[in-house]
Amino acid sequence: MCGIVGYIGKEQAAPILLEGLSRLEYRGYDSAGVAVFDAGTGSLAVRKAKGRLQVLSDQLHGGADLDSTVGVGHTRWATHGAPSDVNSHPQVSRSGRIAVVHNGIIENYAELKAFLTAQGVPFTSETDTEVVAQLIEYFYQGDLLAAVGRVLHRIQGAYALGILCADCPGQIVAVRKDSPLILGYGEGCNFIASDVTAILRHTRRVGYMEDGELAVLTREGIRCYNHLMQPIEKETVTVDWEIDAAEKGGYEHFMFKEIMEQPDALRRCLSPRIREGEIVFEDFSLDEEYIRSMRRIYIVACGSSYHVGMVGKYHLERLTRIPVEVALGSEFRYMAPIVDEHTLVIVISQSGETLDTMAALREARRLGGHILSIVNVVGSSIARESDQVLYTWAGPEIAVATTKAYTTQLALLSLLALWLARQLGTVPEEDCRAMLAAFQELPGKMEEVLSRRDDIQYFASQYFNHDSIFFIGRNLDYALGLEGSLKLKEISYIHSEAYASGELKHGTISLIEDGTLVVALSTYEVLFAKAMSNVVEVKARGASVLALATAPHREEMARTADSVMTIPEIHALLLPVLGVVPLQLFAYYVALMRGCDIDKPRNLAKSVTVE
Ligand code: F6R
Repeated sequence: MCGIVGYIGKEQAAPILLEGLSRLEYRGYDSAGVAVFDAGTGSLAVRKAKGRLQVLSDQLHGGADLDSTVGVGHTRWATHGAPSDVNSHPQVSRSGRIAVVHNGIIENYAELKAFLTAQGVPFTSETDTEVVAQLIEYFYQGDLLAAVGRVLHRIQGAYALGILCADCPGQIVAVRKDSPLILGYGEGCNFIASDVTAILRHTRRVGYMEDGELAVLTREGIRCYNHLMQPIEKETVTVDWEIDAAEKGGYEHFMFKEIMEQPDALRRCLSPRIREGEIVFEDFSLDEEYIRSMRRIYIVACGSSYHVGMVGKYHLERLTRIPVEVALGSEFRYMAPIVDEHTLVIVISQSGETLDTMAALREARRLGGHILSIVNVVGSSIARESDQVLYTWAGPEIAVATTKAYTTQLALLSLLALWLARQLGTVPEEDCRAMLAAFQELPGKMEEVLSRRDDIQYFASQYFNHDSIFFIGRNLDYALGLEGSLKLKEISYIHSEAYASGELKHGTISLIEDGTLVVALSTYEVLFAKAMSNVVEVKARGASVLALATAPHREEMARTADSVMTIPEIHALLLPVLGVVPLQLFAYYVALMRGCDIDKPRNLAKSVTVE
């Protein structure tokens, strides 16, 4: 997804912008650009290039070609108009005196473009963003902020904007609506960024812009305004993420680093919440009366976070006996969801910025539901719009394919299910204690799984050249298969499908032929015998079977399957948290052997802020 960084200070801006943009590469992009104020000519210098940021950086000799101390930069992920130099940001007005970088989509851009074209304004790009630059110039009469204010009344959609004007060389104007933008406060310099990682090297003091807010950055400070253009005080917070945590830390890929970080991420997420046999949610509470009045739970999320919800449904229904629906963020609004004040809506999102999930959240709130979100990025939009938030505390996740965010979301949702069951008294206390003990064993057991990663690497070397792979499993193993299959296909580009094993006979089994690889998931003890019979079924049709089982079932499974990956035994509540790790590693090693761009898979973005 697009990234924004802006700098105003005393140092050379272009190298700072390029470095900041490089921190945003993980978001996925197809072109990059910068605009700076060139004091020599009194005009804006704009440089853009399709492709990797390195292309732009090489063209600018690392930024040395641009002599300026103020500028904005952008990485673009195409929505309106194909990836190209001309469609890249910054987009400029007809005179070239106003430059704009933009994340989001201007929904009524066609209408505005028609209006401006009728006024004789020529357009050079196919982007919605150019409309903003042209419209600011159209309204500009010597007061940039006033012109931006007028534009905000005309544009509809989602936007984070960074604006430069050649007439105001000591300013950057920033605006935010439905697309994240933060302000960075430095010493004699200030920043804007769509993500804190872009500016962490320079400052840890940040302010989160709210919807409808504007900011004017100068070297001396940042003035903020609400949507009525009234000055407001912006609260600042200190970000305590280490820079190292946002970088690769010696590993070849962020994805691998993040897989290996999972035991620590789980400790951070769980230890403060389990104390002396009690679950303590300091960051959240639901009163007992409300819990008892709950009639239904909705879980709303996209992608891997949705898969977390699938597991969560099984756990929540089993433990609380409250009916649970899991809905895709992109579908929720269109399915006439049955939500009222007795509905708890659990919204799951790593980034906290996924637009479909956010739209579902807003719809659920409009219908009267109580919104509890499980989010990784602190201060993100979803977190801020929820009634309550449980943070996963997994730390920054840079690889596009989620790993540590997935396992911490899953662990936290499972802990929530147990907490609710305790409040409702739906599970005998003895069972609750057994489950709590399992949470405490989880990070150590995950370390055990990771320590045997060479086995998984070996299996990957056996199977990496398959063209189509099926994941099968029942119940918890089915939900696990959905995630295993997504992980594999998104980074290795191998076609892959996940099926509930019982469904095979209803169609899919016709696709199994000699040599087809089936990853048979059979970690759920209760259904092991059934899982075995499905393995026999696909073997009889010529499939090669790579199974996943708990250690005690290894031998039995090995009698039928071609290869067996194992995880240690753990309470069923946490099986999927452990079980996903071999699948993450399998996907990683397969993608590595196929030479794929693991951290930035084609066509994908880390934070999907468009519908
Ligand atoms: C897959 C992946 C995506 C995200 C999805 C939702 O590895 O990362 O499927 O899970 O885009 O993102 P968040 O959780 O940020 O809302």
